Amino acid sequence: MVVVSESLVDKINRLRKEKNAVILAHYYQRGEIQDIADYIGDSLELAKKAQNTDADMIVFCGVRFMAETAKILNPDKKVLHPNPESGCPMADMATVERVSKLKQQYPDAVVVSYINTNADVKTVSDIIVTSRNAVKVVKSLDAKRIIFVPDQFLGGYIAKQVPEKEFILWKGFCPPHFNLSKEALLELKRKYPDAKIAVHPECNTDTVEIADFVGSTTQIIEFATTCDSDVVIIGTEVGIEHTLKKKNPNKKYVFPQAADYCGAVHCCDMKKNTLDKVAQVLEEEINEVILPEEVIEKARIPLERMLELS
Ligand code: 13P
Ligand code: SF4
Repeated sequence: MVVVSESLVDKINRLRKEKNAVILAHYYQRGEIQDIADYIGDSLELAKKAQNTDADMIVFCGVRFMAETAKILNPDKKVLHPNPESGCPMADMATVERVSKLKQQYPDAVVVSYINTNADVKTVSDIIVTSRNAVKVVKSLDAKRIIFVPDQFLGGYIAKQVPEKEFILWKGFCPPHFNLSKEALLELKRKYPDAKIAVHPECNTDTVEIADFVGSTTQIIEFATTCDSDVVIIGTEVGIEHTLKKKNPNKKYVFPQAADYCGAVHCCDMKKNTLDKVAQVLEEEINEVILPEEVIEKARIPLERMLELS
């Protein structure tokens, strides 16, 4: 008798059915993870999916703050993170102590935190934003003064769109996006003069200024696959190439070389989740996201405030 061992994908499919689990994945995940996910999306879409799922278990394929967000919105569900080592260096640049101090220093200011923050920082935030809704949310606030945490470049981008408010910007940044220079984009533009440039607002200000389009990962995908140029220069993490090619294989997507990185913009943390780790957490129910009850209760308030507005 020949015994055929179950493939990793078959195993994941069997387990997710048996356990009524949903697999959520960000666009920067490895292609093979995007292929098995129930939903792929940007941070806002994934937070919404996590909020509305009727699954008993969520396997979150993204970095830690994303898995934590799913837990905060679903305290009664089991949220599993395939690799707990997958964090976001920018989120780690903001600490709850320093944000609280800044809040005391500017008592009239509203603390607007990017979703790329750790759960404890969310507990001292008034409202959360993502790259997709940041301008809209900040515009809707009554406060004149905004403390924006932790991405100075997304903060600077919002400040330009909302000149009526005063911004106190935290000095954090996303290392992979920071290393994408304007020159790298212009070099490609010389090679493909008819190409459009689409970038993520985490890129540094010079880079954002020369773009034809600025948006979240999903918005970049929508723009690049539907705009009237055959070639699109993509200023964000290379993981989105997988969905770009699937959505519209007739176009050419070019990724500039980022300084200090051996290749295109690459987030090592996003790539720490692997297919075998997804299968393992589903099987053994390990790497559960556990947060103190008090943190969940406090962090949920600014997150829900954002979700109500979007
Ligand atoms: P999006 O919200 O655009 O998916 O971005 C999340 C992120 O971490 C980008 O680096
Ligand atoms: Fe964090 Fe940047 Fe990686 Fe996004 S791409 S998870 S902001 S380090």
